[in-house]
Amino acid sequence: MNYFDILDDMFKEFEEYKDIKKGKGVRGKLITIIDPKAQKLAAVVEGIHLASLLHDDVIDEADLRRGAKSINAKYGEHTAVMLGDIIYSRAFYELVDFGSEIAKTISNAVYLLSQGEMEDVKLSRDINLDKAKYMEMIYKKTASLIEASCKAAALSAGLEADKFAKYGRNIGIAFQIIDDLLDVTQDEETLGKPAMHDYYEGKTTLPFIYLFESCNDEEKEKLKSLYKKKLNNDEINYIRNLFNKYKIIDKCYKEAKDLVEEAKDEIKEYNIAALNIIADKVVDRKF
Ligand code: FPP
Ligand code: MG
Repeated sequence: MNYFDILDDMFKEFEEYKDIKKGKGVRGKLITIIDPKAQKLAAVVEGIHLASLLHDDVIDEADLRRGAKSINAKYGEHTAVMLGDIIYSRAFYELVDFGSEIAKTISNAVYLLSQGEMEDVKLSRDINLDKAKYMEMIYKKTASLIEASCKAAALSAGLEADKFAKYGRNIGIAFQIIDDLLDVTQDEETLGKPAMHDYYEGKTTLPFIYLFESCNDEEKEKLKSLYKKKLNNDEINYIRNLFNKYKIIDKCYKEAKDLVEEAKDEIKEYNIAALNIIADKVVDRKF
């Protein structure tokens, strides 16, 4: 059984679970490429990721996930929180079987990603233009579990854990930078969630941090007036034009691309083509 089947089998008795749309399964893919025997570990990590998204959609009050109604929108916030708890606790129950080094690697990442979520919420209260704070937050919120997935799979396969951890950390950070970039470049249909939504939610992601560094006072004032506002098409186009004017998209894209190249370099001696392909796909994607 592959990891998605194992996961579905674990939660088949919960009817609301059936309404959860499958994601890209990046963490599970990475784990099973690094250690093809580790399907169960991949299922555990995908379960933890899924639980974190169920809670995240409650925190972000998101109605859409993966192009469909989120569980909180469909069944209410209480159900989304409880289903998240059910998936999370079962995943941890299974995780114990992998031994303390792997279990600590994954559980430490969950500790970090929970802190990352808290930092994300706090940073969203006001316009944050501190890049270091943003980078630390995305490392914790997104990269930590990808880093831990690669490290745990390497431990399971008897490979050099530190190198695979670094690979995972870099592609994880690049993944979130691209996610934040797609939010400003793509439309709702492609994304499966509302477009240009981060700024409305109060999140000044990397493209906005760079935009504020580049634009003039008048543009800054206008941008500030649009913060947390439901944007109409003219306002969306205004922001998109500024991104073009100051070549912000290219700048963020290059930063993600450099991280991915570093990631591939870290494990190049292993010559695992599938890991290079995943790394490239992290930056070359539309959703
Ligand atoms: C998505 O971020 C959120 C995360 C990757 C982490 C969420 C973590 C928690 C809610 C902590 C609780 C953890 C567990 C295991 C129960 P985003 O909002 O930027 O992405 P999105 O646009 O896809 O929603
Ligand atoms: Mg969210």
